[in-house]
Amino acid sequence: MRKIIPIKTIKGNFIVPSDKSISHRVIILAALSNGRSLIRNFLFSNDCISTIECFRKLGVTIECRRKDKVGKDNDRENAGEIIIHGRGLKGLCKPPEILDAGNSGTTMRLISGILASTNFLSIITGDDSLRFRPMGRIIKPLKMMGAEIYGRNENKYPPLTIIGKKLKGIEYCLPIPSAQLKSCILLAGLSSEGTTIIEEPVVSRDHTERMLKALGASIKHEGRRIILEEKSKLAPFETWVPGDISSASYLIASALLLPESKISIRNVGLNPTRMGFVNVLKKMGANIRVTKKDTTLLNEPYGEIEVQFGPLNGIKIGADEIPTLIDEIPLLAIIGAKAKGRTIISGAGELRVKETDRISAVVENIRCMGIEIEEREDGFIIDGEQDFKGAMLESRKDHRIAMTFAVAALSAKGETKIKGASIAGISYPGFWELPLFQD
Ligand code: S3P
Repeated sequence: MRKIIPIKTIKGNFIVPSDKSISHRVIILAALSNGRSLIRNFLFSNDCISTIECFRKLGVTIECRRKDKVGKDNDRENAGEIIIHGRGLKGLCKPPEILDAGNSGTTMRLISGILASTNFLSIITGDDSLRFRPMGRIIKPLKMMGAEIYGRNENKYPPLTIIGKKLKGIEYCLPIPSAQLKSCILLAGLSSEGTTIIEEPVVSRDHTERMLKALGASIKHEGRRIILEEKSKLAPFETWVPGDISSASYLIASALLLPESKISIRNVGLNPTRMGFVNVLKKMGANIRVTKKDTTLLNEPYGEIEVQFGPLNGIKIGADEIPTLIDEIPLLAIIGAKAKGRTIISGAGELRVKETDRISAVVENIRCMGIEIEEREDGFIIDGEQDFKGAMLESRKDHRIAMTFAVAALSAKGETKIKGASIAGISYPGFWELPLFQD
C-alpha cells in the first residue's frame, strides 16, 4: 500500500527508465544473432527480466551488469549493461523446465513466434494475470504457418505448449492492431521458408521492423504491407536503449495537471508510432516542445520533451489513433477530467484484455475519486473541469493503473492510498522514489 500526498507543482529535469518494448526486443534479437551483443541503458524491470530468464532457459548466456544508483537528476537509473551471447536462428536449446513469462504479454507472444520454429517441445506460462490474456490471436496465424501449438481452454489462454516445426511464410491481415501479434508473426517468419507478408490496417509500434532492418534482415514496407524474407543469419550489435515515452507520460501528465509546472525529459524515445499521447495533448492545447536529437543504431529516434502547465480542451480519440497511445489511455481519462469540455475515447476495446481490464479499472478508481465518467464497451466519456478527491484505490496488480492513479492523486484534495502499488516496477523501477512522492 502506498500513500500519496498531493503536491502543488513539479519542476526540473528528468530522465525516465529505458524503453520496455525496445529492451524486450534487444534481448530477443541478440539471442537469435550470431555472436556477442552489448546493450547499454537496458531496462532491468520485472517484465524484461522475465524475457532474460526465458532465454537463459533456452541456452543463451546473458550477463547483466546492473547499475542501481540514483542519477544526478534525482531519478533512479534502474538500468545497466547487458551482454548477450547469441546462438543464431537455429541455435536455441530445449528448455529443461517450463518457461515463465511472468506478467509480460510481450514476452509470451514474441517468444512463442520463435519457439514455433525450433526442433523441440516447450511450454510457456505466466502469472495469474497473463494466464487469462488472449493467445488465440497468435495461435491462429502460427498454425497457418505450420506450427503445432496448443493453449488452455480451446486454444484461448496460456500455458501454451509448442512443438517446434518447420514453418512456411504466410500472407496475413492483422485482425487486431497489435504490435505483439505483428512481432510474433515476424519473428516466426524470420526462420520460415519463403516470404511472410503482414498487412496492417492500423499502424502499431514498429520497433521489431526497425531492428530487423538495422540487423540486416530483408524487410520492407509497401504501403500498409510489411514484407519479410526468410533469413539465415542476424548480425550481433552494440547499442543503447532510449527512455520510455510511456514512462515519461506520467511525468508529462503530472506537469499538465499541476499549476506552474515546468519540466524537461532528456534522452527519451521519439518513435513516431509511440507519439500518440504527445500528439493528442498538443491537439488539446498543451504546451509541449519535442526536440529530436539523433537516432540509435537500431534506428530509434530520441530527444528531449519539454512541458509547461497550461489550460487544456477536451478531445475525441478514435480507433485509428489508439495503437499509438494504447498504454497512455488511462492517463487521458485523468487529463480529460481536468480539461475544459468533453473527452470521448472509443475504439479502445483492447484495453479490456491488458494486464487487467483497464477500462473498468479506470472507471472504478476514478469514480472513487469523485469523478463522473460514462463507461463504454470500447472506451469512456468524461466531462472536464472536475475535481479529484483523495481515496482508497486498487492497482489490480496493473503497473499502469497504479501509476495513472498516482498522478491523479498528486492533484487531488486529500491523500490517496493505492493498494498493490509496488507493481509499478513492471515497467518503471524507481517510480515511487521520484521526488513527486514524499513520505
Ligand atoms: C507492446 C505492445 C502493446 C502494448 C504493450 C507493449 C509491445 O500491446 O500495450 O505494453 O512491446 O509490443 P499490443 O501490441 O498487444 O497492443
